[in-house]
Amino acid sequence: MKTFTSETMHDILSWGQTALQESDNLTFEILNPDIGRGHYAGETITVAGTSYLYRSYKALSDLGELLFCRMLTPKVISEHIVQITYEKLDLSDSFHASEAKEEKYGTASRFAAIHKNEEPAFLSAYLRALRSVKVGEKKRILNLGINTGDEFDLIRQILPHEEYMNLSLVGIDHSPSAITVARERFDEGNAIFYVHDINDLASLDLGRFDLIITIGTLQSSTLEFKSLFASLVQEYLNKEGAMILGFPNCRWMGGEMIYGAKAPNYPYSEMSILIKDIYYCKKYLQQKKFRATLTGKDYIFLTGTKINIS
Ligand SMILES: C[S@@+](CC[C@H](N)C(=O)[O-])C[C@H]1O[C@@H](n2cnc3c(N)ncnc32)[C@H](O)[C@@H]1O
Repeated sequence: MKTFTSETMHDILSWGQTALQESDNLTFEILNPDIGRGHYAGETITVAGTSYLYRSYKALSDLGELLFCRMLTPKVISEHIVQITYEKLDLSDSFHASEAKEEKYGTASRFAAIHKNEEPAFLSAYLRALRSVKVGEKKRILNLGINTGDEFDLIRQILPHEEYMNLSLVGIDHSPSAITVARERFDEGNAIFYVHDINDLASLDLGRFDLIITIGTLQSSTLEFKSLFASLVQEYLNKEGAMILGFPNCRWMGGEMIYGAKAPNYPYSEMSILIKDIYYCKKYLQQKKFRATLTGKDYIFLTGTKINIS
């Protein structure tokens, strides 16, 4: 059994990367993080005459993610040692590789297994965005790429029922199976869903909205990113309207949300396209007199609210 005491994180990472070339899992023993609570990674802790470099469970979980592994429940070996096992993720188990068109994100796809509101990193950033636009005061809300409606569901959860029922929700997606589920989930009478191509919003005659939400959709290869974004601001938003744009900075593989956007032509996470697109939208909103904020981690949220100039 491999035991780490005073080896550096560089040593552990290199060992892990090499070992995973030969095996689908890794097991090693390390100082029990509970013993050094409050220390920073790399601080020395001496136990029974042996010096260990401290690492928290958060650091160990991050290491597993960086190695594209899931971390199993640690085993307590002795009072001050735990055994950590990482298991390789099945990287082919992902919706990203699907060639399907309208149903790439449909109810029969692997995407349908994802419940983003159950991922704390997504949930907290989306919640913050909803609160910062004062979602309860936004009467007409449009969501592009609504899928089965998770983004409306959180709005329903956080608002008092009466306030929620005062909202008028419109969701659009080209996946017929996803929209069928959305219609079943939101049958209280204040939501309407269209199976429709976002490239052709004009034919729906939607009018203007107080809030537009679009998460993980604008950068789709099926959409004209810049012209669509400009038309949303100019033609679909009320004068005091707000926007919440969610840009994925992660990939969903083997049951995990793995930090880092995958870019074409790079074997690792590369953020140039992500940052360029976010910066374009932020600049655009600022020129149109919005206050624009960026928050989040695995999903970057750009939130735009109108600056009141009296
Ligand atoms: C990555 S998913 C994001 C779904 C949801 N917003 C979320 O974050 O879970 C993108 C969604 O946009 C929809 N979509 C992509 N291109 C579209 C288009 N041209 N017209 C309508 N819907 C589209 C897909 O069907 C899918 O539901």
